[in-house]
Amino acid sequence: MTDQKFKRTKKLHKAIKLNLKRRTVIVDDELVFHKNVPIPSWIELSIIDVCNRSCSFCPKADPKIAPNTYQKMTMSLIEKLTNDLKKINYRGSVTLCGYGEPMLHKDVFKMSKKLAEAAFVEIVSNGDTLKPETINKLYNSNVNKLLLSLYDGPEQLTKFKKMTEEAKVPSDFVIMRDRWHGSDEDYGLKLTNRTGTINIGVQDSIGTFTYCNYPSYSVLIDWNGDIFLCPQDWQRKMTTGNIMKDDFFDIWTGSTISKFRKNLLEGKRCDKPCTECNAEGTVLGKNHAEAWKKIYKTTA
Ligand SMILES: C[S@@+](CC[C@H](N)C(=O)[O-])C[C@H]1O[C@@H](n2cnc3c(N)ncnc32)[C@H](O)[C@@H]1O
Ligand code: SF4
Repeated sequence: MTDQKFKRTKKLHKAIKLNLKRRTVIVDDELVFHKNVPIPSWIELSIIDVCNRSCSFCPKADPKIAPNTYQKMTMSLIEKLTNDLKKINYRGSVTLCGYGEPMLHKDVFKMSKKLAEAAFVEIVSNGDTLKPETINKLYNSNVNKLLLSLYDGPEQLTKFKKMTEEAKVPSDFVIMRDRWHGSDEDYGLKLTNRTGTINIGVQDSIGTFTYCNYPSYSVLIDWNGDIFLCPQDWQRKMTTGNIMKDDFFDIWTGSTISKFRKNLLEGKRCDKPCTECNAEGTVLGKNHAEAWKKIYKTTA
């Protein structure tokens, strides 16, 4: 192992440390194999391509990069994905987050209930549409965790704590993440350039990190079923397959994603979008990366 892999340029903010710790449990704890290959532990879904906010650090704020198209994922796609995940005995999380605000999709409850048959379901939301009844309905739709991005200020902690109590759900069902900080604290985020689509704050320069574990343990599925390499890819130009055309496991083990995965395990960010990405790709997924390296006989 080289130093390059674990080089960190900034001290982690307290809120980020907590979030990473929680993610590590989901992503790394249980390494599940199907047909002798490790299956992912984190699948992110973009169920709707619109957001009601416009945050300065998010590419969604730029209509030239990520316009609000109002496109929505269908229930038939959710059913197909759930069936594909059952076939491989999936045990990880499916996170409703992606390129928009998931709570703006009217079918979010039905979708969560279906996905929960095959996965640990999480929703990441800015919380703007929430009411006590909505939180209760999410809990009763078998959502495991509701993660709130609090962008306005500490007063939101009191607001959402009260709402959670009124919703009569366990207090640890709702996780609040403080994201009201300024650029000097990276906005409370593990700030990245989202594959070169946003340049705000103090960003690591491209090339700082070369290794990346993301395609060893995760994928992002867009509203139409296109599967992208990772949640960092806001360019959305290079798909590795489409869930409506092919089986999830066949895409996961297909030639496109395999080429990226292997290169990145060898420290080669040599193809787009990775050539423009500044994310520290080795924060999570170490167990998956090691398992894939054995399969590829990689010594890097
Ligand atoms: C695009 S949002 C979608 C979900 C929801 N609308 C929300 O704001 O939580 C997904 C996540 O990406 C984070 N995010 C946005 N821009 C980022 C950036 N440049 N670097 C790191 N995280 C970012 C947001 O704070 C949020 O947690
Ligand atoms: S290098 Fe960046 S874009 Fe490529 S897989 Fe890793 S996080 Fe995603």
